[in-house]
Amino acid sequence: MVTVLKLGGSAITEKDTPETVDREAIDRASDAVATALSGADLHSLVLVHGGGSFGHHHAARHGVSTTEGARDVAALTGIHRAMGDLNRVVVDALQDRGVGALPVRPLSVAARRDDLAFPLDSVETMLAEGFVPVLHGDVVVDAGKGATILSGDEIVVALAGALGADRVGLCSTVPGVLDAEGTVIDEITAYEQAASALGDSDATDVTGGMAAKVRQLLDLEATASVFDLASLDQFLRTGRAGTTVNGR
Ligand code: IPE
Repeated sequence: MVTVLKLGGSAITEKDTPETVDREAIDRASDAVATALSGADLHSLVLVHGGGSFGHHHAARHGVSTTEGARDVAALTGIHRAMGDLNRVVVDALQDRGVGALPVRPLSVAARRDDLAFPLDSVETMLAEGFVPVLHGDVVVDAGKGATILSGDEIVVALAGALGADRVGLCSTVPGVLDAEGTVIDEITAYEQAASALGDSDATDVTGGMAAKVRQLLDLEATASVFDLASLDQFLRTGRAGTTVNGR
C-alpha cells in the first residue's frame, strides 16, 4: 500500500518570514511519520513538501510561477537552493527519528513538455528498498519557457497516479476545506460543490490556493484528504482525515 503525503509549505515554515522553518511543526510531523512507520498501518510512504517561505518569496521576486517561465540561471538556482535547504531540514528531522528518508530533487529529473514528465525509477526503487523518498516543490525545465515552478501539489498528483497510490494526503494549515461559515466540509465529490467557498490563499503563493488543490485532487483515482497537523496521526493511521476529496 502506497501513501503519498504532502506537507504544505505553510504548515512547516513561517510563511511570511523568508526562509524560516517552523521547527515545532517539522518536529511534530516527523514524530507522526516515525510513529506511523514503526506500526503496522503504514508501509510505503512518499513524502513531498511545499515551499512556504523558502520557495514562494524567491519565485515571486523573480516573476516565476507554474506558468511564467524564466531563463535567469541565478534566479532559478536561487529558488532550487532555497528548496534544498528546506528539504535538508525535513530529511534530517526524519533521519533523526530513525526514518530512512532520502532526498529526491525534482529539477534533476522532471521536465514539462506537453505534460509533466516525471521518471519514477528512483522513487519506485527507493520504496522497494524500504526508503522514504522526500521530494519538494521545485523549479522544472519547461519546453519553450526556460523553467517554471513545479508545485508540490502537482508532484503529489503525478506520483499518486503513476504509483497507484492508495492514500493521498495534503497536510496544510487548515483542518480541511472550509465552507462559507468556516466549517470543515466532510467530503467533496465535485468542484461546484465547494466552488463558492474556495478562495485564494492570502500569503504569497505562486502556485494557487485551495481551489487549485481541490481541482487536482478530484482528478485522482485515490481518495485524497486535506487536513492539518493535528490530524496527521489520524491520516497516517487510517488514510482519511479532514475533508476527503473523491471525484471518481
Ligand atoms: C512551491 O511548492 C515550490 C516553489 C515555489 C519553488 P508548493 O506550491 O507545493 O508550496 P506550498 O505548499 O504552497 O508552500
